[in-house]
Amino acid sequence: MQERINVNGSISLPAEAAVSPLDRGFLYGDSVYETIRTYGETPFRLGAHLDRLRRSAERVGIPYERAPVPIETEFFRTLQAAGHGDAAIRIILSRGIGPVSYETAEVGAPTCVIHVRPFPRPLPRHINEGVDVAIVGVVRNSIYALDPAIKSSNLLNNFMAWAEARRLRADEPILLNGSGQVAEGASSNVFLVKEGRLLTPPLEAGILQGITRDLVLDLARRAGIDAGEEPLRPEDLRAADEAFITSTLRGILPVRRCDGWPIREGRPGPMTIRLMGMYDKVAQEETNAGSEPGASRK
Ligand code: PDD
Repeated sequence: MQERINVNGSISLPAEAAVSPLDRGFLYGDSVYETIRTYGETPFRLGAHLDRLRRSAERVGIPYERAPVPIETEFFRTLQAAGHGDAAIRIILSRGIGPVSYETAEVGAPTCVIHVRPFPRPLPRHINEGVDVAIVGVVRNSIYALDPAIKSSNLLNNFMAWAEARRLRADEPILLNGSGQVAEGASSNVFLVKEGRLLTPPLEAGILQGITRDLVLDLARRAGIDAGEEPLRPEDLRAADEAFITSTLRGILPVRRCDGWPIREGRPGPMTIRLMGMYDKVAQEETNAGSEPGASRK
């Protein structure tokens, strides 16, 4: 697997790929994106990701249907150019090139960038022991501003939260919303287990509707687990019996500590381990990644 970048249909090495400095993605963070992973050559839940890309574009008025190339076709062409193996793909759709002005009348067609790289495997330590999270002071965007439901590449707020977590020696920040409720990570959703119930913040808390989150809720409910989408306070997370984060690139990762407090003595709990197993199984089955359990994580 070799890193490859497709800019409006032209595939090259990263060093040769270029986007105009007058692209509004660069000027204003005026773009939306998706991150997808493959198991071998097969993308996992591509349809859900492309649907969300379209919805994000619609929400900010980027004309998805005017993309200069067919996105799904170019996605597979770039994947093929990168060669075999598990990949992480980022699709970025910006409003396009225009004058330095908010005026969009002279903006051309959207710019479509597809970046393929080898899948960055989560560290075995993070899978087996968990990640450390910290509740940070940077607040998640209000749903009345740049709604977190839109997967926008305007990520400075998320980056500032992440940098704060790094200063606190945590792997992932947990952002609260303006009402002080738990929202989500900088690039993940968050779940906890309390007295046998699986809980995650509701969409109204101001979060991205994670594709991994949707799958986890679905798997849990099918397995008869009592799973609720309910407002959560920081104390609920710190005092949880178990906690984990979810994202396309990390799947399910247990939380080892929150703000330095060990969750379940710092070891992944039984519900987390069970859901990790169910998630792996579905991913393997849907992508035919082989019958070896956990192969996707090796
Ligand atoms: N991030 N919340 C935020 C703010 C995210 O950026 C992400 C994903 C998630 C999880 O969504 P999903 O399960 O659909 O990946 C939640 C991707 C991986 C990224 O930023 O690259």
